[in-house]
Amino acid sequence: MFDIAPPSDLPKPLAYTALAQSAAALIEGEHDPVANMANLAALIWMSVPRLNWAGFYRMVEGELVLGPFIGKPACIRIPVGQGVCGTAAALGATQLVTDVHAFPGHIACDAQSRSELVVPVLVHGRVRAVIDLDSPELARFDEEDAAGIELVARVASTFL
Ligand code: SME
Repeated sequence: MFDIAPPSDLPKPLAYTALAQSAAALIEGEHDPVANMANLAALIWMSVPRLNWAGFYRMVEGELVLGPFIGKPACIRIPVGQGVCGTAAALGATQLVTDVHAFPGHIACDAQSRSELVVPVLVHGRVRAVIDLDSPELARFDEEDAAGIELVARVASTFL
């Protein structure tokens, strides 16, 4: 239905700017958080290459609970402070993990995952969700990916 992924030959920062613009366009006029998270997960999946999981965990009554995603079925609840997602939620800060096997307490939902990027979605300074990207490639993500997904998180903060 939507064919709005940015061309992959753009320099990464420009591709992420285009991705964030597409994200804003996708959610425009819609406030349902599940529908919007589902579309943003799909948009990330079709725009960011070499992923095996992309989606949301939401902050629900003090713990992270699985939200809309693309990838293999995943663990449903993650306590704040545990794993990469729980660490991002506890610190309110992006976690860029080049080798998940070297991250103490990493939660392996898909044994194929080798690197991970988790970006918190902040609303009025509080963590409302995290966006989690996994890759089967070691060191798949860099600071440009982190900055790019932070742009998408800013879009998500408008409906969460
Ligand atoms: N690896 C994550 C758990 C979520 S899955 O990757 C989808 C973590 O350590 O928090």
